[in-house]
Amino acid sequence: MCESKVQFIETVNRLFSAEKGAVVTSDIKNMVAYLGKVTQVFTSTDMNESHTAHTACGVAISPVQAAKCFEETLRTQIFAQGVALAIEDNLKLREGPIKILYAGTGPYATLLLPFLTSREKLPLEITLLDIHEENIAAVEALIAHFGLEDYNINVVLADATQWCPACPQTRFDIIISETMTALLKREPQVYIFKHLVQFLKSTGVLIPEEVSLKTWLTKRVDEEYEDLLIGEFFCLDQACALALNKGDESCLTSQLIIPDGDWAEHVVKLTTDIRVYRHLSLQEGDCSLNIAFVFSPYDAVLMPSKPITFSYIQPQSPDFEVVFPKPDWRQSEFTLPESEDVGELGIIQIKRAFQRAYIIKRGEKLTAPNDEWQAELAIYEALSLNPFEVMGKMYEVERFSDFEAWLLAQVGRLEKEQVDLLNENCRSQLSNQAPAVQRSLPEQC
Ligand SMILES: C[S@@+](CC[C@H](N)C(=O)[O-])C[C@H]1O[C@@H](n2cnc3c(N)ncnc32)[C@H](O)[C@@H]1O
Repeated sequence: MCESKVQFIETVNRLFSAEKGAVVTSDIKNMVAYLGKVTQVFTSTDMNESHTAHTACGVAISPVQAAKCFEETLRTQIFAQGVALAIEDNLKLREGPIKILYAGTGPYATLLLPFLTSREKLPLEITLLDIHEENIAAVEALIAHFGLEDYNINVVLADATQWCPACPQTRFDIIISETMTALLKREPQVYIFKHLVQFLKSTGVLIPEEVSLKTWLTKRVDEEYEDLLIGEFFCLDQACALALNKGDESCLTSQLIIPDGDWAEHVVKLTTDIRVYRHLSLQEGDCSLNIAFVFSPYDAVLMPSKPITFSYIQPQSPDFEVVFPKPDWRQSEFTLPESEDVGELGIIQIKRAFQRAYIIKRGEKLTAPNDEWQAELAIYEALSLNPFEVMGKMYEVERFSDFEAWLLAQVGRLEKEQVDLLNENCRSQLSNQAPAVQRSLPEQC
């Protein structure tokens, strides 16, 4: 527990001296508990009681959610260490004062305030800014609690995508903002940097320095497989922020070409790599900001040499719209197995359905007559399976035996009587004897 300022500062020092990933969770918990006591913003509060703010450029998460960000150990460690290193580098270069703007402090000003508590007074001029009044009050309480008034910190309640310094000539050495989620969705990081970069010195630094979004080809089922990089589709850095600030929005749209090859077994993955400062970075698996997004093979048809298009849209809840090439279907000459052909499980029709999906996945056109589609739906329904999940699996796996193994894992071993009943019902559907419940064909069939 951090019972006193001294204990809090000892814990902060451990956070700054630890190797990446070596911070113990209990240290983070203790710091959060201490900050909660001082600010009265507790991470344990029900999130529904703390409100997000919706702006023209994205969502400003609620004070409680922002407080919870502290608990993402690796994120907090690497961002806080990055800020500390940037300050130390600046202090080596000039006498000071170093001007720092921190936009989106949350209630604990996590990325700067703990650092200040652990150092003798440094020659810094600091502006702390947040859109939530509750965060401003909390930050002021922390400044008073830790006796940081000497810094003459300017605490501002404002929207960081609109705010301008009182003195128009003011330029900052360091601008910090962590207002992002993975793939720069929803929160206003891009628009905050776009606006604030005009107040950064030409020699100044944005933290994070670089948020790089990349596209990969990956084999879903093969853990040994090394992902293949298709390319970077967006990079938020100082150059990008400056271009955006000058009205050049071309970086918000990009194209990547799918490499030549047979990608039938692959899916598309998008990742977020963050270089906070110099060598300090966060990659896939490190924290929630680096969660990878994998497209289902349904949504992403991998046609060699064709482009995938990325456009950053809807500033109120920003996100990338990803458009995959439309398959140019070829009429297939492949002959499907007969309905009565069965695999291990002895269920008729599913081998034929699997092969149809296999052919469609390769960009060949095969239609499923309505009777067959209804019969297949009846099988999935009888097995209490979601038909779209079943079809997703058919598209994902390469071998019918793997598909049957998945089916077995879902429904368990079936008795012979159950299989016979399923097959009997399926045969009557196929011969259109008992009208099935009407359902429409999915678009791709
Ligand atoms: C993800 S939290 C990060 C909190 C803290 N900086 C940290 O790293 O733990 C983002 C913070 O940015 C603030 N914020 C989001 N959009 C903002 C905007 N347009 N202007 C000012 N603050 C904003 C939110 O209120 C929230 O406190």
